[in-house]
Amino acid sequence: MSDLADETVILHVDQEIAVITISGPASLNALGSTVLAELGQALAQVRINRAIRALIITGAGSRAFVAGADIAEMRDLTPEGAVAFSRRGQAVFAAIEELPMLSIAAVNGYALGGGCELALACDIRIASSNAQFAQPETGLGIIPGFGATVRLPLAVGRSRAAQMILTGRKLNADEALSAGLVSEVVAQDALLARALEIARDAAAKSPTAIAHAKRCLAASAELFEREAEEFGKCFETDQPREGMSAFLERRRPEFSR
Ligand code: COA
Repeated sequence: MSDLADETVILHVDQEIAVITISGPASLNALGSTVLAELGQALAQVRINRAIRALIITGAGSRAFVAGADIAEMRDLTPEGAVAFSRRGQAVFAAIEELPMLSIAAVNGYALGGGCELALACDIRIASSNAQFAQPETGLGIIPGFGATVRLPLAVGRSRAAQMILTGRKLNADEALSAGLVSEVVAQDALLARALEIARDAAAKSPTAIAHAKRCLAASAELFEREAEEFGKCFETDQPREGMSAFLERRRPEFSR
């Protein structure tokens, strides 16, 4: 058993199964640059540990998996900084998709924006009954920048993905199940145990066969470049600042054309 003791990203390895917990109670586990970097480091440790046969990613506490990228940090991005931020998140999530072993998102509450995208980068998503999924970015004056424009249509089809991305429609756990966004919904207190069961199922299978199958399932890398570019272009207007200031000031945004 080993631990990467850390305030925001905790890696716990028990024999062949690793659990990464994103923890940031002040912001419902939002993903800022520090958390993203620590997540990247934890994933690098998982990747090189040949004993690990499955990874579970979850959020700390009972309210949120991850409530999105850190809005306070994003508000002041320049267009160039926004492209870099998007690429940084995409790279960390690609590192999940490219792991040779099975990854499972155990979604234990809000999975919004970057949280939904984090779940989408995992091979399997299971949810507790209080989970909620959404891509609320257009309400903030931006678009998803960590992979949803590519992975969400693959997961739920173009129409549902467009509705989520363009209107911010939120799905509860049962809706996410019927949309195919998650493969199982379980009671809150049973979530981790069920994720561990699935992890053990994969751990009993051929690790090389799993690695080859995963390469076939992965989204093609070139598709993400357009997303980073369009994410950056959003920041050429004042709409991200208005949208994100409105969130932080708890008021409705006013978007002009
Ligand atoms: N980035 C930064 N801070 C965030 C955050 C995010 N994505 N999501 C939540 N927080 C912070 C809130 O600002 C608040 O901080 P405060 O206590 O200092 O004011 C704290 O987390 C708790 O959130 P709050 O909004 O008070 O809780 P709630 O129960 O009323 O609502 C949510 C919960 C998740 C519905 C709401 O926080 C929300 O909509 N978050 C943003 C989701 C989003 O748009 N994500 C996509 C970003 S690209």
